[in-house]
Amino acid sequence: MIKDELRTPGAVRDAQRWTAHNYHPLPVVIASAEGAWLTDVDGRRYLDCLAGYSALNFGHRHPKLVDAAHAQLDRLTLTSRAFIHDQFADFCRELAQLCGKDLVLPMNTGAEAVETGIKVARKWGYQVKGVTPGQANIVVAEGNFHGRTTTIVSFSTDEEARADYGPYTPGFRVVPYGDLDALTAAIDGDTVAVLLEPIQGEQGVIVPPAGYLPGVRQVCTTRNVLLLADEIQSGLGRTGTTFACEHEDVVPDMYLLGKALGGGIVPVSAVAADAEVLGVLKPGEHGSTFGGNPLACAVGTEVVRLLATGEFQRRSAELGARLHGGLQALVGKGLLAVRGRGLWAGLDIDPALMTGREASERLMTRGVLAKDTHGSTIRLAPPLVITEEEIDYALAQLAAVLTE
Ligand SMILES: Cc1ncc(COP(=O)(O)O)c(C=O)c1O
Repeated sequence: MIKDELRTPGAVRDAQRWTAHNYHPLPVVIASAEGAWLTDVDGRRYLDCLAGYSALNFGHRHPKLVDAAHAQLDRLTLTSRAFIHDQFADFCRELAQLCGKDLVLPMNTGAEAVETGIKVARKWGYQVKGVTPGQANIVVAEGNFHGRTTTIVSFSTDEEARADYGPYTPGFRVVPYGDLDALTAAIDGDTVAVLLEPIQGEQGVIVPPAGYLPGVRQVCTTRNVLLLADEIQSGLGRTGTTFACEHEDVVPDMYLLGKALGGGIVPVSAVAADAEVLGVLKPGEHGSTFGGNPLACAVGTEVVRLLATGEFQRRSAELGARLHGGLQALVGKGLLAVRGRGLWAGLDIDPALMTGREASERLMTRGVLAKDTHGSTIRLAPPLVITEEEIDYALAQLAAVLTE
């Protein structure tokens, strides 16, 4: 029901007034949500085609996840890691098994998982591989997005994310994404890790050339370098498999996970690796007050159980084919290119028609929420509970935006 006097403009103004302007949100104010649908403060409904940058893979308020959260809220919410709580072991075991790894280290945000990966790789380098003290280096890719900490932005190639945050953390070598020769050439005796997104999300859902990831896996194995796969956005069902690495049968040495691991309810991230790698950490050497808290573990365990059914991966693969089929039909009709896998797509809008921002705003007025990235690219990442009809609805609105 649309109310007589719209609340949105005032709520947008208030939000702008009381916060740092480190985001440029669409002028929509969400009040409630269920499944793939959002409702704003004025009662207007929108199909969510961003899903919290893949944090909402299971949709808004999935009943099993909400039940797990409610039940845990009524029992125990926080202990810190000074004590062990009764949700901890199940979460760590089930997540480790999903990943096929020995051990899990739970944290909160994606950036913390990446920081954990970097620290563990360096420590492994000094203690196990035997690299020159103080000289460990990590090879990363141009166009990467791994989070916002000072160390992580030190090796970002996006000036917006990096400028004026120096002095920067040394020890990273940036090579073009998808170029195996460049990556191989960057590795030397002090290289401890290669850190990559198997598909670059923020960069516009960039899928590397076939054979690249297996090539990286092989060179890492040959040169005794850890392969760290940042599956924070690409993982947990988004691309039609549990991990995007699976599309090319690649098993990294370490999975970095986040976003959907918290079921769209709580921030939960984790690093999963074998004992030879994660075992380098000893008491007091790394940690986080909230990492692996009871609420996070209760929700996270339920997330892992949802993934263990395979249903969400299947939906993403099947419905993704429908989404990509529909998007391909728009190439040449306002879209220059479409990329992606499963229910994840990067669309390049013809810049002669409009910017990505304009396209997102026009989609919003037609009841579809998506977000631009890097000028004329739009990323679509709907919740994996979206239906065929809803995909067709989103495609129809996009086609209308491109031709109006
Ligand atoms: C691939 C990747 N890694 C890391 C992060 C950082 O996650 P967070 O925002 O939870 O710190 C993101 C966030 O978009 C991401 O897409």
